[in-house]
Amino acid sequence: MKFEIVDKKIDDIGADLTLVPVTKEGLSHAWVKDRAVLEKMKFKGEADTVAYLPESGRIYFGIGEGDEGLQDAVAAAVKTVLGTEAKTVAVPLCTVHEVHEAGAKALVDGLMLGAYSFDKYKSKKSEAVLEKVLVSTEALDGQNADAASVQSIVDERTKLAESVNFTRDIINSMPEEVTPVKLAEIASEMAKENGLECNIYDEAYLKKNKMNAFHSVARASTNPPRLIHLAYKPKNAKKKVVLVGKGLTYDSGGLSLKPSDFMVTMKADKSGASAVLGIIRAVASIGLDVEVHVVAGAAENMIGGNAYKPDDVLTSRSGKTIEVRNTDAEGRLVLADCLTFAQEEIKPDLIVDMATLTGACVVAVGEYTTGVMGHNEALKSSMLTAADASGELAATLPFNKYLKKLLKSEVADLSNIGSSRYGGAITAALFLSEFIEEEYKDKWLHLDIAGPAYVEKAWGCNPHGASGAGVRMVVEWLKSL
Ligand code: BES
Ligand code: ZN
Ligand code: ZN
Repeated sequence: MKFEIVDKKIDDIGADLTLVPVTKEGLSHAWVKDRAVLEKMKFKGEADTVAYLPESGRIYFGIGEGDEGLQDAVAAAVKTVLGTEAKTVAVPLCTVHEVHEAGAKALVDGLMLGAYSFDKYKSKKSEAVLEKVLVSTEALDGQNADAASVQSIVDERTKLAESVNFTRDIINSMPEEVTPVKLAEIASEMAKENGLECNIYDEAYLKKNKMNAFHSVARASTNPPRLIHLAYKPKNAKKKVVLVGKGLTYDSGGLSLKPSDFMVTMKADKSGASAVLGIIRAVASIGLDVEVHVVAGAAENMIGGNAYKPDDVLTSRSGKTIEVRNTDAEGRLVLADCLTFAQEEIKPDLIVDMATLTGACVVAVGEYTTGVMGHNEALKSSMLTAADASGELAATLPFNKYLKKLLKSEVADLSNIGSSRYGGAITAALFLSEFIEEEYKDKWLHLDIAGPAYVEKAWGCNPHGASGAGVRMVVEWLKSL
């Protein structure tokens, strides 16, 4: 899908189809040409409703009020476009002139993220007919936005949306294909294409560097683990940030085996790692002035004669010992060592980890929202602000000293699960916090993306399956530093 900015009124652009946004004011806007037909169809322009009129070559779509719903409305409209033979489609800025930036962002997100489909394993592939989107600079209030500024927003947003779709492709790929070794190959190929530094470490490195928590999780699998480290180092970087990603290419639960129904979709347990790869790809292609490192722990949590067991005590890279009480709480073990690696080897200004860490987070905030946790209130709220501006949903979950006590172990420094069935998203984050050095406590954020990373139904501009959750939010946050 290519974009061309056209410095003309929408009515003066000739395209196979024209997308016409309809606000909550209804059909009175000058862009609406087919009032009588639309009224007959009982189309009122409610949010996310679409009316395709083949004869007039127009697709009307309701955008509701405010800008938040715009990306979803555009996504609904583009699905209708994809069902036609149209090669070109024209669309105006769907917001008023003053907020054309939000309009242009939502347009690109809605179109590119909404048009995504994953058919790698289908024998019949969907053919992409739509070639070009002509974006008119005309805004809802009839004023024209500056074409150059729309162009630069669209250019940047296109790169970002490509990175979201890159992340989605990795997550949607099956575990037989995307093993830890393959994930490392994908990372190094992407690094080469984007001029990033890349170091991949194998089992021998994990053993040599006493990353026994990470290594234990990976031990039972015939697919060996990889520690992936990529770096984007622009000149005059304002800050150095490490993004740590959970890359469980499969999570069977290990000996604390998941029930069948809960195991399905666990290919998506690599969503954190896939997201951080997408983020650094976007950051490099946009050319942000922040030094960004990616540390991804790639492993498979499997069963077998060599599997780590409940009752084992693991010594992490930090030296802290961990009593394993449930092998399905494996992500935090991999992340513990990755977080230590990040602090010791990279010495960043800020650390953000991203993980499909707990089902409890999904229970707490629902499927569509990322859980944001950490010790620094201002840092947490900066992430919420970024989420808002990015088109993603996020909410904070609060730490407290009572939940922290639940991680106490009688045999080791701490247990890998909390002793209560409640507050699991927070106890998981508090476990990670034990591996954040004192000087980094206020410089760390944990993002639990277990809900939005992979949803088995389409929602908003997201398809069935992987959404690429976290990519837009964290890129927006990096831009705000
Ligand atoms: N990968 C899962 C968490 C998860 C659950 C992600 C649902 C996406 C959807 C994680 O490794 C896990 O199994 N966590 C356990 C922790 C428990 C054993 C303390 C969980 O959430 O049940
Ligand atoms: Zn698990
Ligand atoms: Zn997991």
